[in-house]
Amino acid sequence: MNPAALVFDAYGTLFDVHAVVQRCEAFWPGKGAQLSALWRAKQLEWTWQRSLMRRYLPFSQLTGDALGYACEALGLACDDARSGALMDEYRRLATYSDVPDALARLHADGCKLAILTNGSPDMIIPLVAHHGMQSLFDAVLSVDELKIYKPAPEVYRLAAKRLGLPSNAIGFVSSNGWDALGAKSFGLRAWWINRGGAPLDRLGFAPDGLLAGLGELPAALAG
Ligand code: LAC
Repeated sequence: MNPAALVFDAYGTLFDVHAVVQRCEAFWPGKGAQLSALWRAKQLEWTWQRSLMRRYLPFSQLTGDALGYACEALGLACDDARSGALMDEYRRLATYSDVPDALARLHADGCKLAILTNGSPDMIIPLVAHHGMQSLFDAVLSVDELKIYKPAPEVYRLAAKRLGLPSNAIGFVSSNGWDALGAKSFGLRAWWINRGGAPLDRLGFAPDGLLAGLGELPAALAG
């Protein structure tokens, strides 16, 4: 049976966090890709650290801190103007090319759609608005109201609570393998969009579905 609602991760799934590479490259030629990769790695690592230590800080501040760290680690001078410009880029990240069409098709098929993200409202709301996607989603949910990051089970519970659906009626879709497994561990049905062709994390269980791109999701659900 198809899920009654699909809940999407935001960064890395709908929006390409590495869309910042071009701007990074303009500021620090030859370092853009390396900076973007370290920035993202530290951003995620600190969500896990802060959640385990119960030291929540909104994702916008944490992301700014991670940028500062990545620049320092790579020996790149970053002033307020540059970090402000890069944080602004985060509020208008490009979508992956297969995203707009897939969302439009799922929406047209009558599927309830939502976002469940680590992103704080000051980041995710402008980003969704930038792409004019507000009308596609029934809800844009942020961990900020819980003050703990994914993959804490209460984050995935928030989706079920807000959508008023049993967990197994919700399909959670993420390109972050650990996030798809977090949703599955809680009890949502989970699809991993494995864009990078990475092996599955060895936690002893698997998502319900594995796809190479979001464009495959409407057909996978129809089949
Ligand atoms: C998010 C992180 C996982 O959007 O990128 O929740």
